[in-house]
Amino acid sequence: MTFLAGLVLLFSSSLSGQTDDKARIWWYPGDGSELPALAEYTNPEGRFGLLSANGAVATVGHPFFESLGANGRACVTCHQPADAMSLSLETIRIRWDATDGTDPLFAAIDGKNCPHLPQGEASSHSLLLNRGLIRIPLPWPPKSANGEVIEPEFQIEVVRDPTGCNTHPQFGLASTNPTISVYRRPRPAINLRYVTSSKFGVTPINGKSGALAAVDPETGQPVNMNMMADAREPTLRTQASSAAAGHLELERPLTTAELDAIEKFELQLYGAQIESGGAGRLDEPNGPPALGPAAMLHGRDGVLGNNTSNYVFPFEDAWQEFSGDGTDVELSEQNAFRASAARGHDVFFFRTFWIRDSMHINSVGLGNPIKRTCSTCHGMHMTAMDTANGWMDLGTTNLPWAKEEPVSPWASGPSEMPLFKLTCRDDLPPHAFLGREIYTQDPGRALISGKCDDIGAIVIQQFRGLSARAPYFSNGSASTLRELVDFYDRRYNIQYTEQDKADLVNFLSVL
Ligand code: HEC
Ligand code: HEC
Repeated sequence: MTFLAGLVLLFSSSLSGQTDDKARIWWYPGDGSELPALAEYTNPEGRFGLLSANGAVATVGHPFFESLGANGRACVTCHQPADAMSLSLETIRIRWDATDGTDPLFAAIDGKNCPHLPQGEASSHSLLLNRGLIRIPLPWPPKSANGEVIEPEFQIEVVRDPTGCNTHPQFGLASTNPTISVYRRPRPAINLRYVTSSKFGVTPINGKSGALAAVDPETGQPVNMNMMADAREPTLRTQASSAAAGHLELERPLTTAELDAIEKFELQLYGAQIESGGAGRLDEPNGPPALGPAAMLHGRDGVLGNNTSNYVFPFEDAWQEFSGDGTDVELSEQNAFRASAARGHDVFFFRTFWIRDSMHINSVGLGNPIKRTCSTCHGMHMTAMDTANGWMDLGTTNLPWAKEEPVSPWASGPSEMPLFKLTCRDDLPPHAFLGREIYTQDPGRALISGKCDDIGAIVIQQFRGLSARAPYFSNGSASTLRELVDFYDRRYNIQYTEQDKADLVNFLSVL
């Protein structure tokens, strides 16, 4: 079966049977197939396009594709071409069923709620199987890049520990290596030229917090701090080293040649939805210039797009005016979808609502609340990340906004997420919006910075390939794009109409 990995599905015309496609195109570590210069993979909303700017990639011996460590995984295990180089919940469940839970993806280290739980029982892997989450063990208290212990501005207590990991004598907070386990979605390893761009707003002092920016340990230059949910990795190279030691359980450091190969591969890899079940081909020459993987290849990184000279996602006038004479039913359905996605673009870009009590946006001198748009936080041209260190507290992991009831229909019982109580020191000002005692499922950036203001602040992900990689948000709390939009509607009391919501979802689905 492995020979089918990486298959280019150019001519398959029907979207039915997509589950079979997905099962077949699982990319095994050490698979050895060539990654084509342009590959297309079916997903529930159409097709995702993955483009290698330097041409087809020979994966034999390639450190991104080979199993390097002890557990049989490769980087590609969690960064699957068919899933926008992330990993969808659907794929995870198919892997579980196809291998009875023996795929290396489910390795004890972090493919399980906690390493001590019985291997191969679904309940031990419930966060991966129900929300698509990988365990991220982080040392507490945090250390700075030069190894000094950072004195945290808050105390942390484990309030609820459904995985047993945070209170475990070997793996938990009270162990000899005090550790906090949080659970996060794999982030898409595409368009990383944009994610790591230093062309905008990268200064030695971090614009939002006034703290020193992280630096590239090899060059000493400040970096944009837009990678990982908590920006703990300054560069693709440090990220790859940590991923190899952690996820792959590789006991030696990556060699310079391996680091070079991974970084080079990642910086030439582009991805975006390329075909939409509703809108048809997204890479047509006269289509919206924001869409398709070639647009990502040719686009400019490090550009602020929340203005009408650059736009976050330039649509120009494509798809705006579809009349159709009603005689070609198929075409008029497609045009209707295109018009809806174009309206969704305008909702994203132009529709204002009151953004309130969100740390690192309402705290940076703009006011609280502020009447702005989605693109105020999501300002980076072509990716909708933040141009400068993009961590903000939207409420996805902090109470009262975090989703506490089970997300997936397969989940049993009450919330499966850990809950921490963080108490900010009383010799310092309290958190401006949440006070001194804060309950959170994932303290986010605060686990790295030790700062009260960073509690629950999560680095914005890029918006690309969304249709290939549900569920959404760092904690997988939105199982569909519609749930994501509903979250915003509740969080900021936007009062979108049904039409607005459908338009926004259609827009996000073609990115
Ligand atoms: C077991 C699953 C798993 C494996 C294997 C894995 N990753 Fe990841 N990857 C993740 C998760 C989870 C995150 C997000 C972590 C976070 O936000 O704290 C991530 C994040 C990333 C990111 C950051 C993308 C962004 O926009 O922030 C890159 C780059 C990346 N991984 C590359 C790699 C490389 C290179 C390897 C192999 C050396 C690798 N990964 C192996 C799960 C995995
Ligand atoms: C206050 C700033 C802010 C505003 C306003 C905002 N977002 Fe976000 N957005 C974030 C943050 C922070 C994240 C990451 C949260 C997480 O992963 O927990 C995010 C993540 C996302 C993602 C990526 C999800 C993923 O898993 O890849 C999408 C899509 C998104 N937002 C859409 C929107 C839409 C649509 C709007 C307007 C209704 C909007 N956002 C308004 C801050 C904001």
